[in-house]
Amino acid sequence: MRNITVLISGSGSNLQALIDAQHAGILGATIDLVISDRADAYGLQRALEHGIPSAFIPLPRVPKEQRAAVRAAWEQRLLALIGAYQPDLIVSSGFMRVLSSAFLDQCGAPVINQHPALLPDNGGDTFTTTSGVTIPVLRGAHVVADALRLGLPITGCTVHRVTPLVDDGPVLARAEVAILPGDDEASLHERIKAEERRLIVDVVQQWSR
Ligand code: GRF
Repeated sequence: MRNITVLISGSGSNLQALIDAQHAGILGATIDLVISDRADAYGLQRALEHGIPSAFIPLPRVPKEQRAAVRAAWEQRLLALIGAYQPDLIVSSGFMRVLSSAFLDQCGAPVINQHPALLPDNGGDTFTTTSGVTIPVLRGAHVVADALRLGLPITGCTVHRVTPLVDDGPVLARAEVAILPGDDEASLHERIKAEERRLIVDVVQQWSR
């Protein structure tokens, strides 16, 4: 059975979808390790409840001039723990940190990421939906709010391979989500996350075949 490490920073509802699929015997993989950079990430609780080894590895806040060294040391701590579990796949699931190319080179497994907006196949700044609507590509940490602010009719979510470029890298799966009149960030994000939970299970299932 292939094993997965999941990186989280928050609620971990996508992690829960993976745990549920594993327990239902349909994931084709086991989640061997969960790592959070935040102590208050509810996803840590989910891991503990299901007996999955989990760790909180904080990235300390330090003055700018120390940041690069502290970040490199933090990545080394992540790598040491990941190295002990030797995952076949690392899933960045609501993990709000950018991983360096040194980390990607050393972690020993492909890293995939969930992004709550539509990313194109070959980079670029626009995306054309299946209904033929061209929208700007949204990257960064506030893309659900950005989609509303820009008045887009449609947004969605993407699972992609992580490369040193942020919110880029080969697309593995995506789903479109219509923006409804009266949507606010919470309602829209919840509909996007419903699609994300389905997609991440699909992607891991495909990968583990
Ligand atoms: C998802 O929307 C993911 O795309 C984004 O953070 C959210 C994580 O949700 N990067 P959860 O913690 O799995 O509930």
